[in-house]
Amino acid sequence: MSKAWMMASGKGGVGKSSLAAGLAVVLANRQQHVLLIDADVGLRSLDLMLGMQDTVLYELKDCLDHTCTLEDTLVAHPRYPLLSLISAGQSAKPKDFDVPELAEIMAQLRMRFDVIIVDGPAGIGRNLKSFAAVVDEVIVVATADEVSRRDAEKTGDLIRSLTNKTPFLLLNRVSPGLVANGTLADPQTIAAQMDLPLLGAIPDNARVYPAMLAGRTMAECGSDAVASGLRSTARRMLGEDVPHRVYRQNRLKALLYRLRGDRLP
Ligand SMILES: Nc1ncnc2c1ncn2[C@@H]1O[C@H](COP(=O)(O)OP(=O)(O)OP(=O)(O)O)[C@@H](O)[C@H]1O
Ligand SMILES: [Mg+2]
Repeated sequence: MSKAWMMASGKGGVGKSSLAAGLAVVLANRQQHVLLIDADVGLRSLDLMLGMQDTVLYELKDCLDHTCTLEDTLVAHPRYPLLSLISAGQSAKPKDFDVPELAEIMAQLRMRFDVIIVDGPAGIGRNLKSFAAVVDEVIVVATADEVSRRDAEKTGDLIRSLTNKTPFLLLNRVSPGLVANGTLADPQTIAAQMDLPLLGAIPDNARVYPAMLAGRTMAECGSDAVASGLRSTARRMLGEDVPHRVYRQNRLKALLYRLRGDRLP
């Protein structure tokens, strides 16, 4: 049965698009028919992240304007034939996407794809509300810092009140070193503090950005830790019960860190 997910966040730049693209590649590698919808209206990015910028000819807005068919907006990935992309609209406005029309389009797409991932914009605008109404689950992406967490909690509350569903938390850019020296709590503690079920935790890794510059997703960045975090998250999205990686504080490292004071870990 098809399942539609949406990536949301309070704060921008926390990794929604990178994670959406990475998870889509992992799911396609698991033989799932995956559709990515770039719902960041006016600011699309997934075409670039997937190296597909030259192949997107029509967008969802064109379909809603009856300039093309829904089929015309679907672009298959050149290296992952099970993965397709739809961009909402580079020149569209959030008001162009009304819930009844979106619901009808989603119903057609659900017949073709096993997993649909909607990459939403940052914040809690109209666009988020429209797309959140037509998906099954929402994933709130956050990093461990206080600003991102507070914004994510606010977004989570809004999703709860709009959809009556509890969103999942996907914690990104987790630093095992900062957990070890006691600077950051471990992902499960953070999720419990935020009162959100933890879908996964993806480590911070210096290979992610260069991969993005080269048109590769974070699944293909060459980091085993990132790939493993994405795989576990994707398996949970498919309903598997996968234990979370344990990030532990190391008493000696925490003590040394406190003694050194202001020095970096
Ligand atoms: N796990 C990670 N490790 C290192 N860098 C990361 C990681 N995840 C994301 N990044 C980097 O963070 C930056 C922002 O990522 P991305 O564009 O995916 O965020 P976003 O939430 O979609 O942003 P926006 O809110 O603007 O849509 C990118 O440069 C990306 O390479
Ligand atoms: Mg984005």
